[in-house]
Amino acid sequence: MRTQVVIIGGGPSGLLLGQLLHRVGVEAVVLERKTRDYVLSRIRAGVLEQGMASLLKEAGVDARMRAEGLAHDGTLIAYEDAMFRVDFAKHTGQPVIVYGQTEVTRDLYDARAAAGAQTLFNVEDVVIDGADTDAVSVRFVVEGTEHQIECDFVAGCDGFHGVSRKTIPEDVRREYEKVYPFGWLGILSETPPVNHELIYANSPRGFALCSMRHANLSRYYVQCSMADTVSNWSDAQFWTELKRRLPAEVAEALITGPSIEKSIAPLRSFVTEPMRWGRLFLCGDAAHIVPPTGAKGLNTAASDVHYLYQGLKAWYADKDADGLDRYSERALARVWKAERFSWWFSSLMHRFPDQSDFDLRMQRAELDFLRSNDAAQKAMAENYVGLAY
Ligand code: APR
Ligand code: PHB
Repeated sequence: MRTQVVIIGGGPSGLLLGQLLHRVGVEAVVLERKTRDYVLSRIRAGVLEQGMASLLKEAGVDARMRAEGLAHDGTLIAYEDAMFRVDFAKHTGQPVIVYGQTEVTRDLYDARAAAGAQTLFNVEDVVIDGADTDAVSVRFVVEGTEHQIECDFVAGCDGFHGVSRKTIPEDVRREYEKVYPFGWLGILSETPPVNHELIYANSPRGFALCSMRHANLSRYYVQCSMADTVSNWSDAQFWTELKRRLPAEVAEALITGPSIEKSIAPLRSFVTEPMRWGRLFLCGDAAHIVPPTGAKGLNTAASDVHYLYQGLKAWYADKDADGLDRYSERALARVWKAERFSWWFSSLMHRFPDQSDFDLRMQRAELDFLRSNDAAQKAMAENYVGLAY
């Protein structure tokens, strides 16, 4: 079998790239290790930058996002007894769109099915052969039978634990990592959000976040120890802890209810360089991870997809290789800025186990500065709504 582009991984990166390529007549096959239902059961952040929203439009999958997504013109930051707002509209002229990653993925799967594009599920033992040659192919097993697809290019969209990154030889790859000494315990509840915009809180008991999916679906998080387990947290304990970390007026307004999902996620910053090796291109979580503070995971995946899509489009239209040759450099330049923002926002909002009194004063001074300084708020707003591609 032969195709133009093999896309490994049917998460948002792989699906978005596949859909964009389909619109310009480039044939791609998506190989996904799990099932569609499994992929759609994963709950991830839900804040889209304008760049991501524009890509969904270009891919023809923005109808539900436009109808159901919530445009947010700002966000709230709480610390000590203060709460202030960073106004995205005033500082950047742009909102972010609150629309769950699960919904983005569902829309992309539906569009892919409607287009008759090929997605193979339950794909095991993927091996990329000859990525650094002109004869690249991908081998894999489905239901015990081995298959091979020859192609022009491979897009490694298979997330942090995929095979694509590891296909790049160790002496070519350079990895940068920071693991944070805590996690986020998150719950989803069918209750109205406590506020119409997100609230990020730095409290002496640790970080908390009030987020949402829609008018009757809320997403809340509290910083927890990575030694903690979900079974240690009843719903009642979660709500009590969340309220203790929020300003009194917010805690009083909070409507609680049974959780419909509860999970603990680690926080990590990670980047691999380069993002291209021969005919293999890494996209999204396969190449980099950000801590969730600021919701840049999906958005950095989208900017990679943008650069790769532009490169592939120019190559197939005009045999112009410049976009592909510069893919790694362009994608990484933006990735590192999103890494910086996520690291900065995480450092600002969490309590660290080894934080000294001096460190705490620095955190407070930085929050005071952000609260009172227009230029600092503008810098935050520009990063939050997303830097230009
Ligand atoms: N073969 C085929 N598919 C694989 C393999 C493999 N060896 N390994 C992993 N996969 C699949 C996973 O099952 C998953 O569906 O690749 C997909 C990768 O999806 P994500 O992990 O969601 O990564 P990505 O598409 O880059 O999306 C980035 O999603 O993970 C979040 O926080 C992240 O929001 C960010 C966004
Ligand atoms: C979420 O809604 O899950 C969410 C929102 C904003 C973040 C992180 C997660 O910064």
